[in-house]
Amino acid sequence: MTTSTIIALLDDQSINKIAAGEVIDRPSSVVKELVENSLDAGARRIEVEISAGGVGKIVVRDDGCGMSATDVKMAVLRHATSKIRSADELVTVGSLGFRGEALPSIASVSRFQLISRQPAVTFGTRLEMSGGQLLDVLECGAEIGTVVMVGDLFFNTPARLKFMKTPAAESAHIHDAVVRLAISRPDVTFRLSNNDRITLHTPGTGRLSDTLSALYGPDTLQLLYPVDYQQDGIRITGYAARPTVRKGSRQWQSFSVNRRVIGSRMLNRAVDNAYQSLLPVGSYPLVALQLHLAPQLVDVNVHPQKAEVKFQDERAVFRAVHSALKEVLLSSDRPAAAVAAAFDHTVYRPQYDVAFVQETTAVTQATLEFSTTVSADDPADSSGESPEILPAPSFFTDNREPGQPALNQERTPVVNQPAAGSCLKALTQYARCYILATDGEDLYIVDQHAAHERLLFDLLTQKQAPSAFQTLLIPRVVDLDPLEVQAAETYVQELAGLGFVYDWVGPASVRIAELPTHIPPEEAEALFHQILSSALTLKTPDPESFRQLWIETAACHMAVRAGQYLNQPQMQGLLDDLMKAERPYTCPHGRPTLIRFSEKDLARLFKRL
Ligand SMILES: Nc1ncnc2c1ncn2[C@@H]1O[C@H](COP(=O)(O)OP(=O)(O)OP(=O)(O)O)[C@@H](O)[C@H]1O
Ligand SMILES: [Mg+2]
Repeated sequence: MTTSTIIALLDDQSINKIAAGEVIDRPSSVVKELVENSLDAGARRIEVEISAGGVGKIVVRDDGCGMSATDVKMAVLRHATSKIRSADELVTVGSLGFRGEALPSIASVSRFQLISRQPAVTFGTRLEMSGGQLLDVLECGAEIGTVVMVGDLFFNTPARLKFMKTPAAESAHIHDAVVRLAISRPDVTFRLSNNDRITLHTPGTGRLSDTLSALYGPDTLQLLYPVDYQQDGIRITGYAARPTVRKGSRQWQSFSVNRRVIGSRMLNRAVDNAYQSLLPVGSYPLVALQLHLAPQLVDVNVHPQKAEVKFQDERAVFRAVHSALKEVLLSSDRPAAAVAAAFDHTVYRPQYDVAFVQETTAVTQATLEFSTTVSADDPADSSGESPEILPAPSFFTDNREPGQPALNQERTPVVNQPAAGSCLKALTQYARCYILATDGEDLYIVDQHAAHERLLFDLLTQKQAPSAFQTLLIPRVVDLDPLEVQAAETYVQELAGLGFVYDWVGPASVRIAELPTHIPPEEAEALFHQILSSALTLKTPDPESFRQLWIETAACHMAVRAGQYLNQPQMQGLLDDLMKAERPYTCPHGRPTLIRFSEKDLARLFKRL
């Protein structure tokens, strides 16, 4: 029998080209790697020039320490680095680079030039490569520092080139990358020009506020709260925006850990969680946070592009960021919180007929129904798998204009109709966020989300018996991220106590078989994710605080959001129910649900008094 030998080592050029695919996936990763090298070289000023979305040309120029002629030749070899001498040093590595991979990767998929000069030397060195092949190394005149020029990116990897988006889209990615790098280093001046037009320029004063002002404008800076918080050995500095400063993507959110720009789903979720009740669905506030913690507590070597890190204690980091933001958002010198604090029963004195309120409260509690699909545009359909699930809330089931016949008499509760003699009369919705109302005397502005959240919270508190659950006819399989896996493992008992019963169907997937009562099955997955991430905010969870957290989370999740249209009966229903609540003036997070203006207040504002 003959044997055939088929295995052979790849040549260096192929190895480099294949490895480059991991490190460099688009022009913005080239920019990131080159700028990181400049930062590691101690640059105080970094200029980036691009054309054709970076595929045509990328130039990164710095005033850093430069390289000797020998080092220039070494720098483009794989695994050649000045930053560590052995893997042991990875534990405490302070530089952004450590693999010795970036330059050889870039050089193997482009036409590449590098010019570098050290301060003590009069001449620089110029190295030229193409598609990974060394073409030339020469002595040359040069400025102190290093310039890297990358042309025709991916010219020899057509498969990769095919995946490039439009130049505008690639430029946007590059811009985004430089913004994040600039935020991570306010002490360095960054300049980015695209097709010879300067699109970004930071002053490098060392103050993050100056960098943010240069990036987002001085007006936006005025709307940011400074963050400086310490917990469990983690220091968090930076800025977090008022909820009004937001975008429809996470573009305005940046994080660095020990001055390394990172992306992190865990940190994204910590931000989402802290702003949870303040934002419309699908919007993300501007947040620029710098985390500082002992390098031993962070593993930087977990991602091929060094874009993520692993924290030894992910939960501690989550909690710290969450608490930092909560503290800033709830801080007592903020106007919103001041209003919230002022809204207690003594400030708010509407003229009620107490007997009427008590009577209608009893009726409402008996008939009030709710679900999560509360969109006015998309009327609730909670014909779920279990009769235990309550149908839509009184004020959201009805999209009819007054006088129109009910579509579904059975599901239209009595309180749908604006009750005669209701205490607050809805006038109109403003900014799809507030209800303007009057009690015949004063003018009220009601926050629709906060008000609805209060109602759902109260209802869940009353109706949610511990351990009450509904069995799902069709179990839901939910995929979890690593932090959620941890939470799902840690809080099995607590979650079961709430009614969440699940088993593992994979290392990161669970099948939910039972849900807490009153929760529509279609919300199972979203709420499960949310309770897991909320659970991370608890330091020492006991069953009662876990239950409390669940009710808050569920109420917030299911409450109508800002941005959602409400028709007249819906607004009126919401107001009627709110005024019957025991604590109508604040939401469960302590924010006000309504603000009152008396005629006198208005007269004062108009300077009539
Ligand atoms: N702009 C620069 N100024 C001075 N030296 C540089 C510059 N860019 C690269 N070098 C030198 O070249 C070496 C190789 O750079 P390269 O980016 O390939 O690897 P690295 O930064 O060490 O690690 P990583 O692959 O993680 O980025 C660096 O270790 C550094 O000594
Ligand atoms: Mg590098």
